[in-house]
Amino acid sequence: MGKIRVAINGYGTIGRRVADAVTRQPDMELVGISKVRADYKTGFIGYHDYTLYGDSPQCVDQLAKGGFNPKGTLEDLLEQADIVVDCVPPKLAASNKPRYEAAGVKHLFQGGEKPEVAPFSFNALANFDAVIGAASARVVSCNTTGMTRVLYALHSAFGVEQARVVIARKATDPDDPLQGPVDGAVLDPYPAQVPAHHGHDVAEVIPGLHVFVMSARMPMTHAHFHSLIISLKNKEITRAQVMEVLLQTPRTLFVNSTTGVISTMNVFDIGRELGRSRGDIYEGTIWEDSVTVDEGDLYMFMAVHQEAIVIPETVDGIRALMGTSSKEDSMRVTDETMGVVAGRLLDVLSRKKIVLSF
Ligand SMILES: NC(=O)c1ccc[n+]([C@@H]2O[C@H](COP(=O)([O-])OP(=O)(O)OC[C@H]3O[C@@H](n4cnc5c(N)ncnc54)[C@H](OP(=O)(O)O)[C@@H]3O)[C@@H](O)[C@H]2O)c1
Repeated sequence: MGKIRVAINGYGTIGRRVADAVTRQPDMELVGISKVRADYKTGFIGYHDYTLYGDSPQCVDQLAKGGFNPKGTLEDLLEQADIVVDCVPPKLAASNKPRYEAAGVKHLFQGGEKPEVAPFSFNALANFDAVIGAASARVVSCNTTGMTRVLYALHSAFGVEQARVVIARKATDPDDPLQGPVDGAVLDPYPAQVPAHHGHDVAEVIPGLHVFVMSARMPMTHAHFHSLIISLKNKEITRAQVMEVLLQTPRTLFVNSTTGVISTMNVFDIGRELGRSRGDIYEGTIWEDSVTVDEGDLYMFMAVHQEAIVIPETVDGIRALMGTSSKEDSMRVTDETMGVVAGRLLDVLSRKKIVLSF
């Protein structure tokens, strides 16, 4: 088959990153992007030489009045595509599903949707093979993606009895000035819901795994911060054995507070210094000096860059639905083209040539 023709619905936090990632893939072609408003982000669609479409005939008119040149409606875009990546605001995508089905294109949703929106929830490491050739799937959320990568690796190696995770969530994305908090911690969700939904979400991609999550929003914008306590089935496992597995886990980066990485702010700084587009950190970032094993319980801190972590999984999700690639080949190509790394930061930096700017 020729290149996979990819449409993207939405050009916000996730949509614009998916667009850039798709254009890096040797086996994919970005056929267009659908948007609603004529705003500065719409200007960047033309800046990057992407093709603009409007969500509806009314949106096409509004975009034209705003000085843009949309090529048609979402339906016109879908005619050009093999698959659409839905990147609209949380809880809206379900209403788009009939449009995708009517057009006969495969569709990949994001984690703001309920699991029921698609027959499969997706994480590349955990269940790529189960999704191969399906009509539709949903990439699990940023928090779930971060937890799933490490839990899948540990569960496969040692067996995980249960995990407890306390999430300090970002208040808002850096481009959204209208959400908070700007001070204090806010229960997430409120009224209090303990456990929060994320544990069920992990079980969607690692069936049977028990993960208990508590969550609160904090005044920060560049990452979620996870405190993980993971009970391993085998109580004899040592820290060295855990590190051996985690250092081999794809898309997982290790930093150390003794080298000055003491905050999620430093993690963001690493993304910028690497020359990553938007300073993105696609890897779950674990503080190696926080990794502690005590009588079968593993403790560690991890940062999750919410804007970026699901992008490699989305690229792999496209290949899984299209059935064009094995899990290993897809993850390798995605990581090579996007410069996604694994292992200790200082080791990665010493292998200069494999660090690609993206
Ligand atoms: N933000 C994150 O950190 C993050 C992380 C992981 C997963 N996700 C998930 O990814 C999905 C997209 O989130 P996002 O943060 O990228 O959203 P966003 O920044 O609000 O962007 C949404 C995009 O969808 C477009 N859109 C299309 N149809 C629309 C409609 N009917 N109403 C309003 N907007 C419409 C918007 O167009 P206009 O710009 O023209 O209005 C905008 O470009 C959600 O499921 C979310 O839960 C988000």
